[in-house]
Amino acid sequence: MRTEVVLKSSDFFIQKNCKIDYKFITDWCIENENHPFFAHNEDGIATPNQFSNNLRAYVRAAKDGEDMTNMEHEHQFHLDTKQTEYYKTYNPFTFGLRPFADLYWKLNRFFYSNPQVHESGESYYIHGWFNVYTKRKNDKGYDHIPFHKHIEVMHPHIYHGFYCANVEPSTTTYRVGPEQPENEWVVHQDYDDMLIYSASGYEHSSSPWLEDKPRVTIAFDIFPESIYFTEQDLNKGNPEHYSWGLDGQLYQAIPFPDIWRGEG
Ligand SMILES: [Fe+2]
Repeated sequence: MRTEVVLKSSDFFIQKNCKIDYKFITDWCIENENHPFFAHNEDGIATPNQFSNNLRAYVRAAKDGEDMTNMEHEHQFHLDTKQTEYYKTYNPFTFGLRPFADLYWKLNRFFYSNPQVHESGESYYIHGWFNVYTKRKNDKGYDHIPFHKHIEVMHPHIYHGFYCANVEPSTTTYRVGPEQPENEWVVHQDYDDMLIYSASGYEHSSSPWLEDKPRVTIAFDIFPESIYFTEQDLNKGNPEHYSWGLDGQLYQAIPFPDIWRGEG
């Protein structure tokens, strides 16, 4: 069924030159990518500590050198893991490192400067994670994420975005779904020290990374407090649930109130 949602460039909110120490963030994420706080072992493959089964399955397949064409088109990212080491997810906004704190504050100001986000009439929560993509060698490598989405239904006030720490040269492409003609997809050039977010629910994909130094981004989901506290399953009927709770493998969100309110 053809979806009625149309994608426009104005659906995306972008801030360049955020003046965050993106070099520190880049080097720190590369250095700590496989620290036990951030990665665990699945069948011998270092896999990010993330709640998304799709993403974890994709990372493992990419590192294994499997063909991922069908995974992307059918949205089937099967997990056939024999051994998964126990892990907990993490949230970079709790790291207590100055550049990550700067990102929280600057994103907060940018986010609440958008009248649209105030229409929910609620305060928000935020969860983040970092992505480190490495260029492929011998057809193996976690060099980008194929088309995926974080949530099945369009909710006007669940937002998704990312901060670009080391992304040049690369692009991110957004589409409503595979049925949408390619000339309607929205392609963004990504720049270091740039923030971008939009309402969640669009499929997106970054271009394959070809540089020697890995590509680093800090991705985040922002959602209203009422959503976070009702532990909803918004992906009705989809095995890839988008749920949260106190389980260590689910969301570790923190409050994201309008902290600049009244500051002009
Ligand atoms: Fe994503």
